[in-house]
Amino acid sequence: MPKPKVFVTRILPSQGMRMVQEQCVADVWPHDLPPSREELLEHVGDVEGLLSLLTERIDAEVMDAAPRLRVVSNCAVGVDNVEVAAASARKIPVGNTPDVLTDATADMAFALLLSAARRIVEGVHYVRAGHWKTWGLRVLLGADLAGATLGIIGFGRIGKAVARRASGFGMRVLYHDPSVPPALGALPVDLDQLLRESDFVSLHVPLTNETRHMINEVTLNKMKLGAVLVNTARGPIVDLDALYRALKSGHIFAAGLDVTEPEPIDGDNPLLQLDNCIIVPHLGSASQWTREQMGILAAENLIAGLNGERLPHCVNPEVYTRP
Ligand code: GLV
Repeated sequence: MPKPKVFVTRILPSQGMRMVQEQCVADVWPHDLPPSREELLEHVGDVEGLLSLLTERIDAEVMDAAPRLRVVSNCAVGVDNVEVAAASARKIPVGNTPDVLTDATADMAFALLLSAARRIVEGVHYVRAGHWKTWGLRVLLGADLAGATLGIIGFGRIGKAVARRASGFGMRVLYHDPSVPPALGALPVDLDQLLRESDFVSLHVPLTNETRHMINEVTLNKMKLGAVLVNTARGPIVDLDALYRALKSGHIFAAGLDVTEPEPIDGDNPLLQLDNCIIVPHLGSASQWTREQMGILAAENLIAGLNGERLPHCVNPEVYTRP
């Protein structure tokens, strides 16, 4: 049997890359920047498998350009970059990489929450600029976590991992996620109550038509005066123009964003000028162990699909039901 041909849109961490190269004839995009749309369409022409990152839009056009395609393996837990319905319509299973990045992403949410609350980045700039002249009772005062309320929007794997961290910090935890029963001592509430009562709000919902811009002028206005917003989910969940106004006015004390709309954020976005906005470049899963595991899961999904087996992590299991 000849090995199946696949397109891999970036060099994977070592073990995952080795697995793919052993089992497949792999066309691996060698650059750090993603292939352009034209390059992507060109490279999928004769492949049976596609291993993508979240930077590529894998839609019906890509699938139509790849008539032999039998599996899409996305090296991420989020699959909003993949048109899953189009894949399902073509009986193409789509894989993702859950679980292994839960703790790393929750750590990043907490790192941003603490950094925004305690003004860590401002403090670093303050020292570097030579402003540190003495210890002062009023210098760079931040927000307290102990006794404060954290509102978690989206109470899946990562939302729950954030709740675990929050209880270690002595926080009261609310969550909004109608599909998830209470757990970990967190209190289920509707969105309005969460926004009204939370000193910190952390976003952990997938990007869908329902969650796009769910944090907007209206919902920001419902948040407590002086609250902190953290987004490690997907950029388009937050309307950045509305967030800018809320941060500028001081209604929102600070924000910590791992994700933005678009990515990368435009260099002239005014949020980049605000001291109370910390933005990092989508690093939620960026730890060494986590990325290695993501590469392995992505390779396993790809290889299972090529072998006609069920993907270990499949987001559209309906492809396995007949007809
Ligand atoms: C990263 O954002 C992921 O979805 O894995």
